[in-house]
Amino acid sequence: MSLKHSYTLIAPFYDLAIRRAFDRTRAEILKDFPSGGNVLISGIGTGLDLPHLPPDNQYVGLDLTRAMLDRATARQHPLQLTLVQGDSQRLPFDDASFDHVILHLILAVVPHPEHCLAEAARVLKPGGTLQVLDKFLRPDEKAPMRRLANILIRHIATRTDVVFEHVLQHAPSLNLVSDQPLLGNGWFRCIRLEKSA
Ligand SMILES: C[S@@+](CC[C@H](N)C(=O)[O-])C[C@H]1O[C@@H](n2cnc3c(N)ncnc32)[C@H](O)[C@@H]1O
Repeated sequence: MSLKHSYTLIAPFYDLAIRRAFDRTRAEILKDFPSGGNVLISGIGTGLDLPHLPPDNQYVGLDLTRAMLDRATARQHPLQLTLVQGDSQRLPFDDASFDHVILHLILAVVPHPEHCLAEAARVLKPGGTLQVLDKFLRPDEKAPMRRLANILIRHIATRTDVVFEHVLQHAPSLNLVSDQPLLGNGWFRCIRLEKSA
């Protein structure tokens, strides 16, 4: 089964499973989100970030799965939001198109996170910012159960073996601004990056 198929099946239940667990975290990490720019939300899903974002940006939300995008439509008011079906690993946008990119619960979902991050860096303007929320192993962390689980669930929902530091090596234009441990004893992290000017 492809991720597109599985997220089509997951879509009706996604909010029930995920919204409450992450809502406070989203509110916290998006409370100072900048205004007045072009923002890409790559892997927007059902749009659970949207209620926490400031209205005075132009937003583009991209996702592979039409059933997830259809649910995001219901959350777009009052934002200026364009929804696009596409692949976060091969973005259909020109270089340097966005002031900010949000990668929430997508980098550790896609088969090739290094392509996803490199593409986000490509479409960012110099000096632009990128915010990641996801679950990552630390370099050299053994985590045998998560690596075992990964074999099965990577095909239907998410990877559980991604090491952020390894992925970042594929986007040399990005500089680390902050790395904040969050849920699951720091398994989930909010990582902020800035593209070199
Ligand atoms: C775990 S959900 C996260 C959704 C949302 N960002 C959030 O924070 O709730 C992962 C999303 O990634 C989408 N997805 C999976 N593979 C993708 C790809 N290659 N390109 C774009 N979206 C993808 C799925 O359809 C799903 O909506």
